[in-house]
Amino acid sequence: MKRPSEIAPPVGKLGVLLPGMGAVATTTIAGVMLIRRGLGEPVGSLTQNATIRLGKRTDNNTPLIRDFIPLASLDQLVFGGWDIFPENAYEAAKHAKVLEDRHLDPIREELESVRPMKGVFYPEYVKRLNGTHVKTGANKAAMVEQLREDIRRFKKENDLARVVAVWCGSTETYLPPAAVHASIATFEQGLLDSDPGIANSQLYAWACLKEGVPFANGAPNIMVDFPAAFELARERGVAFAGKDFKTGQTLMKTILAPGFKARMLGIAGWFSTNILGNRDGEVLEDPGSFKSKEVTKLGVLDYLLQPKLYPKLYGDLYHMVRINYYPPRGDSKEGWDNIDIFGWLGYPMQIKVDFLCRDSILAAPIVLDLAIFLDLAQRANLSGVQEWLSFYFKSPTVAPTLYPEHDLFIQLMKLKNTLRWLRGEEPLTHLGHEYYD
Ligand SMILES: NC(=O)c1ccc[n+]([C@@H]2O[C@H](COP(=O)([O-])OP(=O)(O)OC[C@H]3O[C@@H](n4cnc5c(N)ncnc54)[C@H](O)[C@@H]3O)[C@@H](O)[C@H]2O)c1
Repeated sequence: MKRPSEIAPPVGKLGVLLPGMGAVATTTIAGVMLIRRGLGEPVGSLTQNATIRLGKRTDNNTPLIRDFIPLASLDQLVFGGWDIFPENAYEAAKHAKVLEDRHLDPIREELESVRPMKGVFYPEYVKRLNGTHVKTGANKAAMVEQLREDIRRFKKENDLARVVAVWCGSTETYLPPAAVHASIATFEQGLLDSDPGIANSQLYAWACLKEGVPFANGAPNIMVDFPAAFELARERGVAFAGKDFKTGQTLMKTILAPGFKARMLGIAGWFSTNILGNRDGEVLEDPGSFKSKEVTKLGVLDYLLQPKLYPKLYGDLYHMVRINYYPPRGDSKEGWDNIDIFGWLGYPMQIKVDFLCRDSILAAPIVLDLAIFLDLAQRANLSGVQEWLSFYFKSPTVAPTLYPEHDLFIQLMKLKNTLRWLRGEEPLTHLGHEYYD
């Protein structure tokens, strides 16, 4: 890829559109509002906290990423979005029960001013929800047109210089790409015919790409991982990334598994189970939506451990993932992992991980970073799939001929090296250098 000669400066306001204004979206929005007022810290965000080493270790040159490369600042962000329920961001945050009143009260008015636009919702893709705040239209093409009008109006009314979008909507039923996804022409015909192969989320992605709005997919369902979307993004010069935010259990998996593999320790089995009680958990009770999640969660170990290269260590690995909806837990999920590893001469050992995590607290900084980095990509004229953002995803979307990289530390190296490359700095490699920074 050719290095951009210059990156357009982040002048003016940046609109951040979040289709699906539930737990993750409102935790992100409220967090940014609190941080802007000095009432919270952006823990977990690379764009706000991380540094980047330049040159040799002895150079002692380690600026903050945001001082090294021009990024939109938190003060420049303006939030909007769509939902199939009419609650404003304050009401939705109360409903989600992620943040406590001590965090919601000081920003109540500001949150109340963020009201979702009507969503596009064909219920067959998300079985457990019954939306009331929805658009009507003759066919799916008409729905895309309405979403495009929403984007233009949002941009105009808020006097925005640029807009990005991050899907925070519910997980849809598993639907692999079909003939309708083969090209722009087949997809557009499919929109006119309201083809059942085109899910709600794909209508949002299509509208964004058409409007030149960079798009990230935080859910596991297929939204842009098909030839027609790749073609449209290339044609319009739009950046996109996906899919499924890497939080909770998969984050742990992609931290631990590279470690076992680095030491050439064998793994006989990995059993992961979760209980969670938020709306996401309720949606995932549906077997179709669970299938989407299972596919992204199961793929991780196969790519990480390369069983074909190491058949004696990982060839017989038994990997199982379970998710159970358990309302008393709300957004505070519990994820257990039982890992059966083996060492020298095949002697077995066990590792148990019990992660009492807060999903949306882990997801919010990812949404923020994706919005800010996608805007950077767009200003640098990088279009198509942004693999350097794989760091944030359970199931990174990659060019059709490549396989995804899941190792969190390789992903981080790729992310930081892309930033170095954008600024004309030498990339760091593991050769004679510190590996990760
Ligand atoms: N929280 C995490 O750690 C995490 C990690 C990975 C992926 N995700 C994914 O992120 C997404 C959001 O998670 P959440 O916990 O905020 O869920 P949530 O259920 O609280 O919010 C999702 C929102 O999307 C809305 N929605 C559904 N279909 C829509 C449509 N067609 N148009 C507009 N809005 C629509 C729902 O009404 C709901 O308000 C889910 O798909 C989830 O699987 C979350």
